Amino acid sequence: RWVQSFQRMHLDASPSPPAALRPGGAYLITGGLGGIGLALAGYLGRTVQAKLALLSRTALPERHQWQAWLDAHLPDEKISTQIHAIQKVESEGGQVMVVSADVANFAEVSKAIEVVEREFGTLHGVIHAAGIPGDVSIRLRSGSAADAMLSPKAKGALVLRQAIADRKLDFLIFCSSLSSLLGGTQADYAGANAFLDAMAHRLWQCGVRAISINWDAWKEVGMAVQAHSSNDGLLSRALTPDEGVQIFARVLEVQSPQVAVATTDFEVALRHRPRVAADAHRSELTASSGPVAELPSVAEPTRAADEVEQVLAQIWKELLGVKQVMPYDNFFDLGGHSLLGTRLLEKLRARFQVELPLRSLLEVPTIAGMAERIRSLSWAMGRSRDPVAATSPSTDVS
Ligand SMILES: NC(=O)c1ccc[n+]([C@@H]2O[C@H](COP(=O)([O-])OP(=O)(O)OC[C@H]3O[C@@H](n4cnc5c(N)ncnc54)[C@H](OP(=O)(O)O)[C@@H]3O)[C@@H](O)[C@H]2O)c1
Repeated sequence: RWVQSFQRMHLDASPSPPAALRPGGAYLITGGLGGIGLALAGYLGRTVQAKLALLSRTALPERHQWQAWLDAHLPDEKISTQIHAIQKVESEGGQVMVVSADVANFAEVSKAIEVVEREFGTLHGVIHAAGIPGDVSIRLRSGSAADAMLSPKAKGALVLRQAIADRKLDFLIFCSSLSSLLGGTQADYAGANAFLDAMAHRLWQCGVRAISINWDAWKEVGMAVQAHSSNDGLLSRALTPDEGVQIFARVLEVQSPQVAVATTDFEVALRHRPRVAADAHRSELTASSGPVAELPSVAEPTRAADEVEQVLAQIWKELLGVKQVMPYDNFFDLGGHSLLGTRLLEKLRARFQVELPLRSLLEVPTIAGMAERIRSLSWAMGRSRDPVAATSPSTDVS
């Protein structure tokens, strides 16, 4: 089984602009008129003079009406702040298009992407920041309220994936939340974010550079500001928009499908998270199978969890001459090339009796992805989905 673990990461200040961003690149931000969406749009506009499509359900007034709007409304009204933010992006060299669509509606999103590509050309990246806040405990929420919560994040992510399926993006960023790791009473909000985390892991396995960022609260902009009073402890330690965008820039360089961003000690927060369900599960497991690891799991493969990955890791280490490999490390990032790829496939053929074409290395360049391919092939050939046990029960791996 999988055992979730977390690794503390030190992320150096990214070069400006980060390598993942293209000068004049075209980026779609769902929830782009929200607090985080506009902050990231500001960063992309001033850093790489990006072409930005900001997608949300609520449309802004037509551009030619903006000045009249600003003249007639207070500067801190929502639409006024959105117009001001867009004007700032444009004054700093970015281009902005506002698109009105429900991210959970495939027809609307496909049409929006068509319009954006007609205007901006190729789309280079997508940031999925659409979402609605969790307000009350799950016990007080109706099923339809929970559906509405899940829709922009979870259904939205699936719709986006389908709508951009044939495009090769530089990145797909999910704005998730620490709530999916730390839990809490807003189970539907945490669940929607957990879906984003899981989807990023899955996409990474398929060779898509998807990263789910588990954000801590932001101050000054966004949904946490609306939900908490300014003297609330949560906001006093929250990220400023400037810190948020600097972290975003660093995360763009990370080789991992999930990054949690915490302003307080994350390990302490994990220890103190609500754990009623976890404890019930733990006592069941301890009764039958002895001590269990501290936490349930996402990242590192253990021998007990997946022997195919362990064997693959050993082969990668020998071939690439590296001491450690992680399930989502990319073969080519670790120094792999086509000749080593051919040797790798020969070793896999000998070890697992499966024929993988060289192309598969480009499609699934990670241990996790490759293990899944091997298991599927093995199963399709009428053998076990656990080819390690099937071929060599005494495999000795470190
Ligand atoms: N702010 C924080 O402290 C924080 C912390 C952790 C995680 N996050 C996550 O980061 C993301 C952005 O947060 P934020 O603070 O920027 O929130 P926000 O200010 O409330 O913005 C969210 C945006 O999403 C749009 N949206 C909602 N449903 C949509 C749909 N079905 N289709 C298209 N757009 C939709 C909303 O516009 P319309 O209503 O007009 O559609 C809104 O502009 C959210 O997913 C949130 O869960 C935020």
